[in-house]
Amino acid sequence: MAITLPRLRTLLGASLAAVSLSVTGFGVATAADDPATDPIETRVIGGERASIDDYPYTVYLATSTGFQFCGGALVAPDKVATAAHCVDGDSPSSVDVVAGREDKQGTAGEVVGVTDIWVHPDYVTATSGEDVAVLTLETSLPYETIDLASSADDALYAQGNSATVLGWGTTETGSSSRYLLEAVVPLTSDATCSDAYGSSYGSDSMICAGYPEGGIDACQGDSGGPLVVDGVLVGLTSWGRGCAQAGFPGVYTRVGAYTADIEAQIAS
Ligand code: ARG
Repeated sequence: MAITLPRLRTLLGASLAAVSLSVTGFGVATAADDPATDPIETRVIGGERASIDDYPYTVYLATSTGFQFCGGALVAPDKVATAAHCVDGDSPSSVDVVAGREDKQGTAGEVVGVTDIWVHPDYVTATSGEDVAVLTLETSLPYETIDLASSADDALYAQGNSATVLGWGTTETGSSSRYLLEAVVPLTSDATCSDAYGSSYGSDSMICAGYPEGGIDACQGDSGGPLVVDGVLVGLTSWGRGCAQAGFPGVYTRVGAYTADIEAQIAS
């Protein structure tokens, strides 16, 4: 099967950094997501509105014109963890972080500039792993941060754990969400994810979540945003084949594999 990653930025309307993914087919919402033809309600899919007060560490990345193109998680007052594919090749001055705001059309919270973008040095494409980046903010934010899963936290990654994914990405309407949405999805086993994605799934750098029947998932525009188990950051939305499709769970960056890297950035 031809595997394609979404041309993430096109969706985003921003200039596309060469996110030429060797793989095709993963990511873009398709006719299968059409609520008129899909019996399963697919919105972030299966999501519902979330209060930013309950998830104060959830932020979004915006272009200088305010266009939301990815999510992120506040891991220190001045550091945001996100997906590498969201910011690879970007200059810090072209990215803003919006925090404390659940309504993209509102003015709550703060918009802060970025002074530095660290992308994992081994990152190539989302499907090959290392899809993690850390942004340094121009000013510290007054919002609660989220703890990182540590590499020793195997129990957090157990199959069947309920994980909450958050974001402003594409819903079943085919457009991105005005409001922050949340959805709960079970973590899958490595075998389930390998069955879906073959060698693109790397259990050392990724974790999958979703129901066998699909219907609930992250989607385009949610990338970089948090996947949370027991109040701890276990994943960052990374990729998938379409969204909410049966047999194709969402794939997330496995935060526990990068704790030391992220902490080094927090300390820097
Ligand atoms: N790559 C997408 C983004 O940039 C996220 C895709 C997630 N897909 C999924 N089926 N969970 O926003």
